[in-house]
Amino acid sequence: MHPILEEFCDKWVWPTMPGAPGAAFRLKLTREHCLKGWEIALERTLAEIEQDLANNDENWKREKALRGYAAEGVAMSIKQMSGQLLSVDIADQERYIDLQRMRARQIWDECKHSKLHADVLLGKGWVKNERELMDIAAANTQPLPAYFGLSMMFAHIHPLARAAQNYYQEAIACLGIMATLDRVADPLVRHEHLSQRDEELMHFMEGKFQIDFLCTTPQTQQPVEEALGYLLHQVGGIR
Ligand SMILES: [Fe+2]
Repeated sequence: MHPILEEFCDKWVWPTMPGAPGAAFRLKLTREHCLKGWEIALERTLAEIEQDLANNDENWKREKALRGYAAEGVAMSIKQMSGQLLSVDIADQERYIDLQRMRARQIWDECKHSKLHADVLLGKGWVKNERELMDIAAANTQPLPAYFGLSMMFAHIHPLARAAQNYYQEAIACLGIMATLDRVADPLVRHEHLSQRDEELMHFMEGKFQIDFLCTTPQTQQPVEEALGYLLHQVGGIR
């Protein structure tokens, strides 16, 4: 196992609250499915970073900031996370109030992610103000695949389906931040990643919490397995 993945697992994946009723299910998913995808994603990110650094120009920083402005930020959050809030029926709201609070919190976190990408573009002098980004197509493109369109993944299916996305996909976000901080010296890029590190970890922990404490029956585990199956299907395809 790569040392970065090993560190992440030792700190955040393996520790489990004693008596957490869904933990055995989560650890099974992790060993049978997640670890391989995490390893592939980390290797891919590290190879990309090496390639970017070898290029000896700054264009990759501009491209990543423009892409992330829409794909990791406001445009993604409003569409994806607010769609998932709607998967909680009125009658279920009391039961899933923690889940809804975490969803709402993540909308804010990911909107902040947009601003951090804008900070890189402003700090480097590539745009004069954030409003200019509205005229740049690359800053308004959402390349992520969709379940029902516009990246509203898992909306309207089951409130817990999203736990698979938080657990599996946000671990990849955490690993990407760890990899970047391990290799990249540019202070603006480091600042951006340091500023988002705790938030991405919270998104992963949201998935971990939901699986450990709410996915305790075949009825609540199945939507997680199905959503994870969809995500794993993408491993070969998306970034
Ligand atoms: Fe995130």
